[in-house]
Formats: sequence, structure tokens, C-alpha cells
Amino acid sequence: MRFDTVIRNGTVVTAMDTCVGDVGINGDKVSAIGAQLPVENAGRVIEAAGHLVIPGGIDVHTHLDMPFGGTTSADDFQTGTIAAAFGGTTTLIDFAIQYKGQTLRQAFDTWMKKAHDKAVADYAFHCIITDLGSAQLEEMAQLIREGVTSFKLFMAYPGVFMLDDATIFRAMSQAAKYDGLICMHAENGGAIDVIVQKALAEGKRAPKYHALTRPTTAEAEATSDRGLPAYAETCPQYLYLSLENMDAPGFEGAKYVFTPPLREKWHQEKLWQGLAKDTLQVVSTDHCPFCFKEQKELGKDDFTKIPNGGPGIEHRLSLIYTGGVHGKRFSPNRFVEVVSTAPAKLFGLYPRKGTIAVGSDADLVIFDPNEEQVISVKTHHMRVDYSMFEGIQIKGVPKTVFSRGRAVIEAGKFVGRPGAGQFVRRQTYSVV
Ligand code: URP
Ligand code: ZN
Repeated sequence: MRFDTVIRNGTVVTAMDTCVGDVGINGDKVSAIGAQLPVENAGRVIEAAGHLVIPGGIDVHTHLDMPFGGTTSADDFQTGTIAAAFGGTTTLIDFAIQYKGQTLRQAFDTWMKKAHDKAVADYAFHCIITDLGSAQLEEMAQLIREGVTSFKLFMAYPGVFMLDDATIFRAMSQAAKYDGLICMHAENGGAIDVIVQKALAEGKRAPKYHALTRPTTAEAEATSDRGLPAYAETCPQYLYLSLENMDAPGFEGAKYVFTPPLREKWHQEKLWQGLAKDTLQVVSTDHCPFCFKEQKELGKDDFTKIPNGGPGIEHRLSLIYTGGVHGKRFSPNRFVEVVSTAPAKLFGLYPRKGTIAVGSDADLVIFDPNEEQVISVKTHHMRVDYSMFEGIQIKGVPKTVFSRGRAVIEAGKFVGRPGAGQFVRRQTYSVV
């Protein structure tokens, strides 16, 4: 058998198995996994001894090129997918926003255009619903057929994204009928708004009041359920940062203004344990970058005007490997599960993506589990002027990254092509 590429002698890690061996690639697919695959006629042979070979990361929560809070998130589909690829993420699911009065199709078309010529790696969309008449209800079924199989609903951001209970109920019923999945931003936005107005009236305007006006009870109330199947994500910022970061001098706390907000430090270990024990299934990033200069500064005198969001698309795999595997909280297999396999299963990408198997897309990361780096704005690739994780030491770094059989990152350089990323039509979800 002849291979386009053979990755040799790596430790191949999936959510289920670990083995030392070779991975053969033909075209955009994995075509063989085994010991000592023939390399004589291979187009290319890459030595991966001492490295892990893992499925490309899947980030199911990003906001690229998103108008929000009077400005637009700083990474577009080119800079955002390049930064993602540097971090070992080869597929992302972004959000197509339906603004009031629009059809869902308009939202989908708008975001497809944003991505088409720019993405260097594969992408899909959830559709954010803000307005659900009978025509849009019908469109939900049509979008599911076209591979947009999940919808995002917000219980927060009154006047922007927040939906009333009747609309939430209608959307959930329709999703259930067609096997769609609902992603819920679960905070009691109405109650939070009352607390926010009170804080402003008392002259509390600094960034940290963004967090202090969104109490845990407003999240707990919105997430309680009747024991029905519900899955949950967390993000690296909630595992590494805390309310203390918001006490940074001057206006620096604005760097950590995102929603849901940071909590007290003791929450971090609870979240790590949630990942270890599978009460949390997925690590995404909620990447929504706004530069400190001119963007975050829109809220210099009023925390409610600080655009909500933080940059994180690039370091998800390294941060989770560092704290999860080197931190002895879970195995490399569980690491692969939370950053790739479970997201793929939940969002209808598995087994095309999220694993290494014959016939799967050759989205592969050669990962050095022992290389150490310090995260910094000076070296990151996101188009944003600060890092939420500045100075944090990581151990475990993607070295070579393939998207559907093509190298996109090699020897610390981007070697892909804008526009090479493809829209992925998703199936409906499978139980994780
Ligand atoms: O603060 C955040 N997360 N901004 C992006 C929009 C959202 O809430 O997901
Ligand atoms: Zn988000």
C-alpha cells in the first residue's frame, strides 16, 4: 500500500485507546493505523517518536468576526482559525446570529460568507435564535437537514439576545421533534439586570462589578433541571482564573469581563473534578476577543459598556493537558475525550472527526507532551493585544497539525491556506 503521508512511531491516543504505531494518510483521510506501515513509497514520512498523535481539537464555542457590544470581535475567520490551528484545534463551531426580524437562513448565509474565503480549518455553525415566528420554526427543521443541527438560546443579555420562556419552550419543542440540540446560555438575565441597575445607581462602575452583579444563584437557578439529559461545557478561563484577576490595577480587570463571569478560586478544582468525573463533558473556549485598547476601553467609565468576551482559542489543548494530565487529574485519553471526541459526538461530527480511525478525516496533531512554554501576548497568534493567561506555564505543545491530510502548522510556522477550511454539515447528536 502506498501512503501520501506516514506519521511513524508516535503514541496514538484516542478517547478509548493508546498504542505506539504509525498512522497512514491518503488524501484527506486516515487510511491505516498499524505497526511498521510501509514507508518506501510514501510521499512523506514524519517521525513522531516520543510524541503523542491525537485527533485534532474541536472547539464548539467560538465567536469570530462577531458584532457585539458596539464593536466586533477582533479575530476573523482567518486569524481565528490560524490561532486555533497553532493550538491544535482543527474544527470549530461558531455562531450564526439571527437578528430580530431576520430569517435563520439570513444568519446562516451571513456567517458562511464570513468564513468561506478565510478559514484555514474546518468550521460549522450553531444558529443563535433571537426571534421565532412560525416561519423561523419551519426553518429550524430545514437548517437541521442542511447540517446546522444545534441552536443557541440566551436567558441573558436583555434587549440583545435574551428570549422569553415561551420562545425557549417553542424552540426546545421544535428541536426535540427534529433531533436538534439546544445550547443554552443559562443565567437569569432579568434578575441580573435588576442587580446591575442597582449597582450603577450606587456608582459601582469598575470592571469587577460585571462579575459581582451576576451571582452564582442566577446561574444555579437557570441550570436546574428535572434530571433530564443535559451536557455541560467549561472553558480554560474558569479552570485557571478567578475573581482575583478582576482586582488588577486600574481598568485591567476589563480583560476578564466575560459572561458567565469568573468566580472565587475554589470553583476551579470543582470544575477540574467535574471534567475528571464526567459531570462536565466538553472543554470549549467561548473565544470572543476584544482588544484592551479601544474595544474594552469602551467601558472605561461603566462596566456594562465593556464588550463581553475573552481570547482563548489558541491555548485550550495545552492548558487542559497541563492541568489535566500533568496535574494528575485525568488520563491522556480523557484529555482527548474532552477536547475532541465528546464535542464531536455531541455535535454530530463523530466519527468523521474526533477520533483517529480508518476513514476518519486526517485532522491530526503531533503533540509534544513534555515541551514547556510560557503563554504571552508577545508570542500568541490571536489578533488581540493581551493574553488572559499571560505568564502561565504550559507543558504539552502541538508541534505539527494536519487538517484533512494537509499540514497547516509545521516547525512553528503556519503553512496552510486561507479558504482551505470547509463548512462541515453535521449529523444530529449522539449520546456521549
Ligand atoms: O462574554 C462572552 N462570553 N461573550 C460572548 C457572548 C456569549 O455570552 O457567549
Ligand atoms: Zn459564547
